[in-house]
Amino acid sequence: MKKFTSVSDVENLQEIIKKALQIKENPLSETEKGKGKTIGLVFLNSSLRTRLSSQIAAQNLGLNILTLNAAQEAWSLEFADGAAMNGDTVEHIKDAIEVLNQYCDIIAVRCFAGMKSKEDDVNESILSQFEQHAKVPVISLESATRHPLQSLADCITITENWHFDDSSSSPQAKLSVKSKPKVVLTWAPHIKPIAHAVGNSFAEWMQEMDVELVIANPEGYDLDKNFTKDVKVIHDQEEALKDADFIYVKNWSSFDDYAAMPEVKENWMLTNKKLANTNQGKVMHCLPVRRNVELSDEVMDSKNSIIYQQAKNRIFSAQAVFSEILDELNSK
Ligand code: CP
Repeated sequence: MKKFTSVSDVENLQEIIKKALQIKENPLSETEKGKGKTIGLVFLNSSLRTRLSSQIAAQNLGLNILTLNAAQEAWSLEFADGAAMNGDTVEHIKDAIEVLNQYCDIIAVRCFAGMKSKEDDVNESILSQFEQHAKVPVISLESATRHPLQSLADCITITENWHFDDSSSSPQAKLSVKSKPKVVLTWAPHIKPIAHAVGNSFAEWMQEMDVELVIANPEGYDLDKNFTKDVKVIHDQEEALKDADFIYVKNWSSFDDYAAMPEVKENWMLTNKKLANTNQGKVMHCLPVRRNVELSDEVMDSKNSIIYQQAKNRIFSAQAVFSEILDELNSK
């Protein structure tokens, strides 16, 4: 693997899920692989899971780790090409990336959508500068439009909770068991405009999995068609949740009326009552979650929730990706 910014960088999704599950069994099986190499973890935005799981993954591979919480600790960055830097910005992103090239063998970066310019966000105005100026492999720790390490962890979690390859089942059992799980990505309420990266990315990765994907969101909240493609979008949550095996809860703002929050009359918060209509559906969320806004305490703390398992799998998602990038570097 030469870089990792979307599912298209993965040659074989099933193989990398298998690799991540093997790593989970024995996380310290490759402690020499990253020896003498350095990964830079650059955060232009806040993080708990991505920062810590990436650090654990890199540590398990023997990598040296440089973590830069750029928004708090580094110089104020300029992103505009050709800017006369006579204002508040102190260092141009191009120069910062050139310096990171001197220190790192891999650069991983978190750069959220600014949510001000649809064009800038859709075109990945920050990640694209890393891809353009980095001379080492670039890994996305969540960008304006995608969160691929989260999506890989989601695929791992669904695989752990569903018997996709049930070759040991009797023919009768196979007939009585659904071959594909129904996975529902359901919009949830929030107090402020949230980016589309997790929703886009989940939709994109699920289309590569052997699942029946349905997206449920209110009118005015359809995600970018470039990510959802032909996936069924239903504007009635109750109808969408019927017989669901996995329910992925996530808020996002309007894409068409970019970053707006059109009024929603119904209550889309996920509750136990709504789960009654599902196939004992397992509940997922990337975290952080606003309890009793996006989903209720009773759902979050119920046996249906696999949310902490999902968070744990962020380690193995990152480790599988870092390991494949190191294979490429070590082969040179
Ligand atoms: N899910 C996720 O990316 O969490 P953090 O924002 O805390 O990294």
